[in-house]
Amino acid sequence: MISAPPKVAIIGLGHVGLPTALGFAELGFQVVGADDDPAKARQIAQGRMPFFEPGLDERLRRHLAQQRFTVADTVQEAMRSAEILFVCVGTPQREDGSADMAQIEAVARSIARSLNGYKLVVEKSTSPVRTAEQIKRTIRRYANGSDHPFDVAVNPEFLREGTAWTDFLHPDRIVLGVESERARALLLELFRPLIERLPADRVIVTDLNTAELIKHASNAFLAAKISFINLMADFCEASGADVALVARGMGLDPRIGPAFLRAGAGFGGYCLPKDLRALIRMGEERGLDVALLRAVEEINRRRVDRLVAKVEQAVWVLRGKTVAILGVAFKPGTDDIREAPALKVMERLLAAGARVQAYDPQALSNARALLPPDGDRVQYSDSAYEAARGAHVLVLLTEWPEFLDLDLDRLAAAMEVPILVDGRNLFDPAAARAAGFDYVGMGRP
Ligand code: UGA
Repeated sequence: MISAPPKVAIIGLGHVGLPTALGFAELGFQVVGADDDPAKARQIAQGRMPFFEPGLDERLRRHLAQQRFTVADTVQEAMRSAEILFVCVGTPQREDGSADMAQIEAVARSIARSLNGYKLVVEKSTSPVRTAEQIKRTIRRYANGSDHPFDVAVNPEFLREGTAWTDFLHPDRIVLGVESERARALLLELFRPLIERLPADRVIVTDLNTAELIKHASNAFLAAKISFINLMADFCEASGADVALVARGMGLDPRIGPAFLRAGAGFGGYCLPKDLRALIRMGEERGLDVALLRAVEEINRRRVDRLVAKVEQAVWVLRGKTVAILGVAFKPGTDDIREAPALKVMERLLAAGARVQAYDPQALSNARALLPPDGDRVQYSDSAYEAARGAHVLVLLTEWPEFLDLDLDRLAAAMEVPILVDGRNLFDPAAARAAGFDYVGMGRP
């Protein structure tokens, strides 16, 4: 007898949950999604993306139309209707830097009350080590004597915002933390279409705690690479060297690799800063020496100081100056502005008495909500040229590829004073200078 493929429920339809849900639908599984925000769930059910992620809107509409992907009215309904439950809810940061586990705990209690047969509960949200154990304990505690069996597994997510779709379909590795043969077999079946495309050594099956730590270690290491190259950028500025070439020279060593060595405004977003802080807290709670991780965070924090100092140096006095900001999103390809370096720089410039005129291809409505337009102090523009109009300095903070198509002569001509602070080293300094800009990069001579 051929058994039907397992049905998958995705709990939490955010930046991780929604691409995962559509990804499994694309692989041919029946997927039901649920979110405890009813407005968001309704919007998704109507085929409208709640955030910008390239390529997802078309897939959302297609899988909804084919009913491969459905949105449940309630989270419990989704839990009852599937065998494999992916927990993709948020683990936001608490004031002390640790991860707030309230949403995961609530999901675990809900699962306990929804047990109507075997369930495989897969933790996908980035969580501190031993969260899976807590989920297991919580489900047992609240299961009210139910004798339906369940397993808890960990499947850390490595997809990036902006490239979530490709990252889901072409992962560089798949990590499965399991503690039963049944869980292992189910997950291997679910991931088989992806595993078949991967070399065998790219699939790692571990215990629960190891899988959780792999995720935290990966994000912390990426953060460390960025802070390292940013420190080197400072060395370059102090010595007349060029950090782009230093990164290239380092990256050609296969032990180092070229990725994540772009110096600039530092790392932002919902993952790297938050996960790094959570790992620091986890280490502190266990009495470990986390000085290395603290330095990574501190170097990143100082990128904002460094940028503001560069802008100030360029215009001499900030008060009363108009600063054009190119790029508000924490990186290109997304409308996400959470922990975006650009916002921090904008706030600091405003506090120093400057005016800002900002443009971003995708993130303006999120920016308006967080830092509302305010007379001529904060303005949002419909184009880079409009943002540059009458400005005393132009500051690039997100390296959207389309900025490379800008007519630099036109941009310079629109400004009161053509100064360009290139916070991501996007532009060619010679081309910028040829257009009349006074060019200031990050770690470039
Ligand atoms: C990150 C990880 O890269 C993913 O593998 C992980 O799955 C995800 O977090 C998560 O935990 O959910 P993401 O937050 O989408 O993904 O963004 P990244 O591409 O990692 O970029 C993070 C920040 O680092 C951005 O602000 C970016 O501008 C900055 N960055 C990146 C640099 O400053 N320099 C670089 O060389 C690379």
